[in-house]
This record gives sequence, C-alpha cells and structure tokens, in this order.
Amino acid sequence: MIGRLNHIGIAVPSIEEAADTYRSLYGATDITAPFDMAEQGVRVCFVNLPNSQIELIEPLGETSPILNFLKANPRGGQHHVCFEVADIWQAKAEMERRGAQVLNEPRIGAHGTLIIFVHPKNSNGVLIELMESPKGAHPRVD
Ligand code: CO
Repeated sequence: MIGRLNHIGIAVPSIEEAADTYRSLYGATDITAPFDMAEQGVRVCFVNLPNSQIELIEPLGETSPILNFLKANPRGGQHHVCFEVADIWQAKAEMERRGAQVLNEPRIGAHGTLIIFVHPKNSNGVLIELMESPKGAHPRVD
C-alpha cells in the first residue's frame, strides 16, 4: 500500500529558470542546489515545501530518458508522482502480482533510497514512482 506523497516530478528545459519561477512567482525559499544523476541521465533539484517536494528534472546528456518528454512538452510538464512504500522489493513483487508493469529493477533514486517506476498505462496516464521511505526521515503515525 502506498504511503506519503513524497514528491511530484516536473520535467523542465532549464532547472535554473524553473527554480527561479518557484522562487519569484510562488515565493518558495527552500530550494536545493541542483545535482547530476549521471546514470539516470538527469540533473535534479528539489523545491522543499511544508508537506512535500517538487522535483525539478532537467535532461543530462544525449540519451536522457526525459528528452522525448520535453520534445512533446517543450516548456516542461508534470512527469511523475512519487509515493513512499515501506519495502521496495515487496512493492515490486506486489505490483507485478496485481498485473502492473514495473519499468525497472529497484535502483537508487535522488533521495538515496530504492525506487521503481510503474507504467502510466496502469494509472490513468500518470507515471508513478514508488520510493522506499528514507529511514527516520519522518516519524510514522500509526
Ligand atoms: Co522522482
């Protein structure tokens, strides 16, 4: 079962320009420095909000997986939604048992914990990222 909404991923042509929009238009003050995720072909930064994060994603390199998305959406657009799960391997097995198409083997994501992506066809056209909750990142309420 999915837990907390961790972040919303937004593909952008320029991380600096997008961060500036969140800063100047919406008044966001807590925006992390961009960093490269060379293996995933993306450059990423986070806009920290009181209850969640916006993940800004810029293509990195010629084979970036978001180049096609930006070709179709040149000004950028909502790319994925990320929910936390307790155990990524269990989540992957359960998603597959339920007939969903998991797009990758669990790998380390931008938060340093394991992630998988579920095909948009399984969720009303929305690409879903499932991410193992960072240990001790926020207290569990149960
Ligand atoms: Co993400």
